[in-house]
Amino acid sequence: MTTTQDPANVPPIDDWNHLLAGRTAVVTGGGDGIGGAVSRLFARHGAHVEIAELDPERADRAVADITAAGGSARAHVLDVRDADAVSAFAEAVLAEHPHVSVLVNNVGDYRPLVRFRASGPESWKAMYDTNLFHVFAVTHAFLESMIPGGGGSIVNVHSVEGLRGYPGDPVYGAMKAAVAKFTTDLAVSMGRHGIRVNGIGPDLTHTPQVDYLTGYEDHDHLWSSWAPVGRLGWPEDQARVALFLASDLSSFVTGHNVPVDGGTKAGGGWFFSPTEGRFVNRPKGL
Ligand SMILES: NC(=O)c1ccc[n+]([C@@H]2O[C@H](COP(=O)([O-])OP(=O)(O)OC[C@H]3O[C@@H](n4cnc5c(N)ncnc54)[C@H](O)[C@@H]3O)[C@@H](O)[C@H]2O)c1
Repeated sequence: MTTTQDPANVPPIDDWNHLLAGRTAVVTGGGDGIGGAVSRLFARHGAHVEIAELDPERADRAVADITAAGGSARAHVLDVRDADAVSAFAEAVLAEHPHVSVLVNNVGDYRPLVRFRASGPESWKAMYDTNLFHVFAVTHAFLESMIPGGGGSIVNVHSVEGLRGYPGDPVYGAMKAAVAKFTTDLAVSMGRHGIRVNGIGPDLTHTPQVDYLTGYEDHDHLWSSWAPVGRLGWPEDQARVALFLASDLSSFVTGHNVPVDGGTKAGGGWFFSPTEGRFVNRPKGL
């Protein structure tokens, strides 16, 4: 029996190569892109992964890759924007794995991009459905199952655009900010049930949704201006942070939103100018 004063409250990590051994993880949009990397990395770390995926080919490919690597996964083809489909998905998962201890809400999309002045109720609703509604629906469907098994970890993938000013589509930015706020608030309310909730705000990550390569083949030298770390991001960069937040490595971390952005948010309005050899806040040309 431990007390709150007991250092044994820090969960032991028995196998650093299998940080999610014995756990069931649910990943939405877990077939490709950031979600695909999360599914594959979590399975490599011993989790059984239940994937919710719209695209049947991506779903099959993820399960085949995980199985070939010796891991365990099952895919469910569904649209997480559909509340009934989410209920059926949760029922199917919980029938076989009554204690889900990791949930990654990853689905989201800035498309179709509609500028606010040209937008209306239809495009606002579409942004809500694609970026916020399912975060509530899927979280609600699995939350209760986390408690009896001693808790769990929820990781919400939103966007750096929810954490800074985003001129492209303020409605998309607002939905992502809402996911970040939901993350913080749910963390505070569920902490005493052993459930941690954290968020990831990606930027500059090459995926099927966001092609950062096409058309930029001749501009590789400008990465030092575009991101403080000086390179493009990959789904694996996001998945590693998700693994930290999902596992006991972060057992004392909850309610936080981590920009996984190569430093773009931290950089604010500062740009490295290769021509001037220094950081400038008013680039005359890169
Ligand atoms: N890539 C980036 O640089 C970037 C930047 C900011 C935010 N994000 C956010 O990260 C998350 C993942 O982005 P990504 O770039 O990997 O996206 P992606 O479109 O490349 O991959 C999303 C995956 O989810 C699946 N999916 C899409 N809609 C679905 C639905 N309704 N139901 C079930 N599955 C669905 C897709 O088939 C795909 O496998 C999103 O929330 C996105 O907004 C990404």
